[in-house]
Amino acid sequence: MANLDFKFLKEKYGTPLYIYDVNHLKKNMTGYLDYFKSNVFETEVLFASKAFCVKEMLRLVKAYNMSLDVVSIGELYTAIAVDFPMDKIYFHGNNKSISDLEFALNNNVGTIVVDNLMELVALDEITNRLNKKCNIIIRLNLGVEAHTHKFIVTAHVDSKFGVSYGSNDYNDMLDVLKNSKNINFKGFHSHIGSQIFDLDAFTAALEKMLGICKSFDKPLVLNIGGGFGVHYTDEDKPIPFDVVSKTLVDTCEKALKANNVKIEKLCIEPGRSIVAEAGYTLYTIGFTKKTPNKEYYFIDGGMTDNIRPALYQAKYDCDIVGKENELKNHIVTIAGKCCESGDLIIENHPLPEAKSGDLLVTYTTGAYGYSMSSNYNKALTPAVVFVEDGKDKLVCRRQSYDELLEREI
Ligand code: LLP
Repeated sequence: MANLDFKFLKEKYGTPLYIYDVNHLKKNMTGYLDYFKSNVFETEVLFASKAFCVKEMLRLVKAYNMSLDVVSIGELYTAIAVDFPMDKIYFHGNNKSISDLEFALNNNVGTIVVDNLMELVALDEITNRLNKKCNIIIRLNLGVEAHTHKFIVTAHVDSKFGVSYGSNDYNDMLDVLKNSKNINFKGFHSHIGSQIFDLDAFTAALEKMLGICKSFDKPLVLNIGGGFGVHYTDEDKPIPFDVVSKTLVDTCEKALKANNVKIEKLCIEPGRSIVAEAGYTLYTIGFTKKTPNKEYYFIDGGMTDNIRPALYQAKYDCDIVGKENELKNHIVTIAGKCCESGDLIIENHPLPEAKSGDLLVTYTTGAYGYSMSSNYNKALTPAVVFVEDGKDKLVCRRQSYDELLEREI
């Protein structure tokens, strides 16, 4: 674990507080960049900004020469704010509006990931009207769906994302592309799920995509998406970066050799696995209480800064700061302060005795914590601090009550 001075950070910034260990972020980025390489085709690592989209994070991604997945104008706007190279941006989304597409084209976004037939028709019209060229890849629904430890290959035709290979819509999309003046079709995208530990699910999806390449003359760009699992609790067994990277590259190299096809580039777009384990959330314990069957430690945040336990029954690990090595002889539920019974961050977790004012840290909160935070009960969005080599830097101020009401008339 990183050497973070939680007590000092609490004094300086207050709680709840999102804390990122910058060295860990960098280690994760180089973990992919160093190993996701091939001598046969180009490779590209995109950061899926939805996992944690603040300017300072995108500056780091830019400094590491990585590319970026954005899924909304808000994320794109954040990228523009840090002068992110537009040619390295992939713009996703199943329901981009006409003005979203116009905004992306006017800002010269590198690649649009087209999700469905209607989007392609609209994009074709817009590129003609604005007289703009545009690169696209098509998001395929490959029928490979993975949920953490299992994956299934079925004709899962009803996903809201992507187009099924060989469907009428798919064939109509090829027709639109044939006749398009301004759209440059580059290849395909697929994303099979999130928090996945089964590498076979990715290789199955990749092999399907490689099979599809055979019906194209030109070498294509293949983007296999994100979804690589991380360690939240000891039940989770993430696959190391080098193994993920090498397996995907090897699968691709072997299939290309066997089928005598070429690809231009292989892309991955991890979000969680870059930021999750580098993130910590720090809380102050307020009241504690015992009921006949439970013991509660109440914290000064909760579902407003981490919705994942309530939304996905996600599990986390935690410690009381300074009492990490004390006997964990209390089975405790960590509850937030929202007016909602489901506002429980961790249930039935062994911890030492705590007193009011103790600090509680939850681990692996760097992905989809800040980015899914809310102002429910008019809670303020916590500050975000980056710490590198013992030096802390505020990258996002805590919201103020005035800011909370700023837009209200
Ligand atoms: N690419 C695409 C097209 C995606 O839809 C996603 C995530 C990613 C990349 C990044 O996946 P990652 O490597 O972060 O697993 N809010 C949920 C996760 C939703 C993920 C949506 N798509 C959570 O907190 O678990």
